[in-house]
Amino acid sequence: TQYTSEILAFEPSSAEELEIFRIKFLGTKGIIKDLFDAFKAVSPEEKRLLGKVLNEFKKTAEERYLQFKDAFESGSGADDAKLDLTLPGEGFENGSRHPLSLVRSEIIEIFKKLGFTVAEGPEIEDDWHNFSALNFPQEHPARDMQDTFFIKKDAENGDIALRTHTSSVQVRMMENGKPPFRSIMPGRVYRNEAISARAHCFFHQVEGLYIDENVSFADLKQTLFYFVQEMFGEGTKVRFRPSYFPFTEPSAEMDISCTICGGDGCAFCKHSGWVEILGCGMVDPNVLENCGIDSTKFTGYAFGMGIERITNLKYQIKDLRLFSENDVRFLKQFQSEI
Ligand code: PHE
Repeated sequence: TQYTSEILAFEPSSAEELEIFRIKFLGTKGIIKDLFDAFKAVSPEEKRLLGKVLNEFKKTAEERYLQFKDAFESGSGADDAKLDLTLPGEGFENGSRHPLSLVRSEIIEIFKKLGFTVAEGPEIEDDWHNFSALNFPQEHPARDMQDTFFIKKDAENGDIALRTHTSSVQVRMMENGKPPFRSIMPGRVYRNEAISARAHCFFHQVEGLYIDENVSFADLKQTLFYFVQEMFGEGTKVRFRPSYFPFTEPSAEMDISCTICGGDGCAFCKHSGWVEILGCGMVDPNVLENCGIDSTKFTGYAFGMGIERITNLKYQIKDLRLFSENDVRFLKQFQSEI
């Protein structure tokens, strides 16, 4: 009885006090252990009576212990007495949109103003849509430019792979419709590259396609120039360098004046004043014909950019891995309306 009232009156104010209590009553050398040892020596009649009392006592001590143990672990406990319930709550933090989806929406909004619609397609593609229709000959080294993740090698019906670019969506669009086409294709793409600050095994693209009668390289330049002014601000310069893609002829890569130093030269643009943001060109007539479009009547342009690259420039992010690590300290810096 004496111990029972001690137990019931016990109100620890710290985890240490609770531990002392545990050792005293419930420990391997504690009071309860002693009592159970002594219990072995009593007569059978006494055992019946005492057994019940002892078990009851043990239960009381354990319950008291567990009650406070839980409280200390969940961070309340004796501090409850000091708790001021009139204080405002801590509230929940709102989530925020991922920087890549913010920039993706921004890109889409800009092209929508120019009349582009949005098209999507599968991430698992066949050889035809990812390569052959786009004028990549079999065994051509250009296929190696895009380190492909193959899912199924099939010489007869064509390999199945994770798409390496969203140009595959352009093929699907041309095959299934009639010109004019004016669309952008945002989506995730995959390349078998070692993960580092500058490369990843997946990234996101927005490609664009415009096919109609009399579409010229001048149309391409003006569209991309407009995009850059909207995305990076009025006065951002652009330059085109000749390049090669199997599906466009002529092909170019487009640079913009570095958004960090304004073109004066900094570490971000490697002191050149320019950063590459996309590849583009006039759709090769072979591609049009492969997709059932009369290349004597129609011409068009295509372009493709990486959303990561645009985001890096906009927010001065130097390590691609940040986009897929889900570190909330990084992510919560991108607060937005939606
Ligand atoms: N598909 C190319 C790539 O992924 C980009 C591109 C698209 C280039 C359209 C030119 C025209 O690298």
